[in-house]
Amino acid sequence: MKIGIIGAGNVGGTLGKAWAAKGHDVQFGVRDPAKHAGLPGRTTTPAEAAAHGEILFLTVPWSAVPATLAGLGDLTGKVLVDCTNPIAPGPSLAVGHTTSGGEEVAKLAPGARVVKGFHTVGAENMARPRYGDQAAVNPLCGDDAAAKELAATLSRELGWEPVDAGPLSQARLTEPLALLWITLAMKQGLGREFAFGLLQREPVKA
Ligand SMILES: NC(=O)c1ccc[n+]([C@@H]2O[C@H](COP(=O)([O-])OP(=O)(O)OC[C@H]3O[C@@H](n4cnc5c(N)ncnc54)[C@H](OP(=O)(O)O)[C@@H]3O)[C@@H](O)[C@H]2O)c1
Repeated sequence: MKIGIIGAGNVGGTLGKAWAAKGHDVQFGVRDPAKHAGLPGRTTTPAEAAAHGEILFLTVPWSAVPATLAGLGDLTGKVLVDCTNPIAPGPSLAVGHTTSGGEEVAKLAPGARVVKGFHTVGAENMARPRYGDQAAVNPLCGDDAAAKELAATLSRELGWEPVDAGPLSQARLTEPLALLWITLAMKQGLGREFAFGLLQREPVKA
């Protein structure tokens, strides 16, 4: 699959390398391609990577989201997976309750088929989501079922357990989950090698 990774840091670099290792045609879009010469695949401008990818992963800091999206060109029909978190000091969330980072991304990317995902746990989990025989859950929110399924397929390839979390507005719920992960890791002493999982069982028969 042709994948465009916008940003090549902890999240983008890790995801892109993992999918390249699985044979996908990955192109990274960064501010300074020379700085990221060691990455697999091609490293270009964000606009070129966006043109390349059938599916794009937005992996820049929240403060950089508006300018980055404005520079990507026409995204009509592209699947755009928003991996960002709208982190503000505290840490807290810069948006919430009546909107979400995912919905704001959709407003800034007209025509794109936006999926929120790959954002609720730390970057250490991106390419290593397995914990023994359990998998980290990857809630995927979006209004386009086929776009969500594409993101779910790539997610499964890396070992995650993707779950359809409903429409894009459900990012109002998953972004606070990301903040919970951050505070558990940084303030509650859990460190960074943990993830959220989904436990499910059959109901008790009467
Ligand atoms: N780190 C995590 O554990 C984690 C987990 C889930 C979600 N997230 C979210 O994922 C996003 C990326 O996090 P990260 O940890 O991967 O960040 P990171 O390691 O700092 O990488 C950010 C990437 O975005 C680029 N960038 C930085 N400022 C930019 C700007 N002003 N304009 C354009 N590009 C810019 C960087 O470019 P250069 O390479 O040129 O510096 C880098 O490639 C954030 O929104 C974060 O909240 C992070």
